[in-house]
Amino acid sequence: MTREKLIAGNWKMNGLTADGRALAAAVAEGHHRTAAPAVVLCPPAPLLVPVGQAIAGSAVALGAQDCHAKSSGAFTGDVSARLLADVGCRYVIVGHSERRTLHGEDDGQVRAKAEAGLAAGLIVIVCVGETLAEREAGQTAAVLERQVDESVPRAAMAVNTVVAYEPVWAIGTGKVASPAQVAEAHSSIRRRLARNLTAGADMQILYGGSVKPDNAGVLLALPDVDGALVGGASLDARQFLAIVAAARG
Ligand code: PGA
Repeated sequence: MTREKLIAGNWKMNGLTADGRALAAAVAEGHHRTAAPAVVLCPPAPLLVPVGQAIAGSAVALGAQDCHAKSSGAFTGDVSARLLADVGCRYVIVGHSERRTLHGEDDGQVRAKAEAGLAAGLIVIVCVGETLAEREAGQTAAVLERQVDESVPRAAMAVNTVVAYEPVWAIGTGKVASPAQVAEAHSSIRRRLARNLTAGADMQILYGGSVKPDNAGVLLALPDVDGALVGGASLDARQFLAIVAAARG
């Protein structure tokens, strides 16, 4: 099976309504309907509706940065995957390292969120990645295997689940992982997915961590890299569209 490329922009907690609309409109305008790769924008939750309006009718899809594991209830401040789907999301990111670190989410919680996303009909982007201390201790492969085993739902399929490899030390630091490090991590994630899941070998695996227009071409050409999860560079339409263009090869 040929795996299509996917470029997702994770805006994190940035932008106000007017900036978000303008950025989304510029991305929609610059990414033509028929052209691969798939492109997703993940704005902060209150911007999902205005960004959805700005990209309506374009080839750009809407995604959220997180969801709750339950479908409704007394969870002040949280947003359910069902509501995300209801307001037009096709994707949801779960288990981003900022959620794992700053909000103490463990693999079991990440898997429960991913399961909620799947149940709501969303495509889930499950993030995994080692810290610098884990890499320096030679634990990278073990950490990635554990996160894949415990964060990716057993019911995950290639059509509804994407894994994002995001080495924590490369996120927002300008320190991009080397092509050899990325290739090694992606191939170990793919082996683990293939071992655990029927469709694991066909699943898209994105790289994230300081992806910029000048390194995107090399990273996206690696055999097991099926796209990118872009933080900082997704806040600038020109940079983001240059990464999208690099994914066309
Ligand atoms: P960055 O963020 O591109 O700013 O490093 C990536 C991410 O956290 O998804």
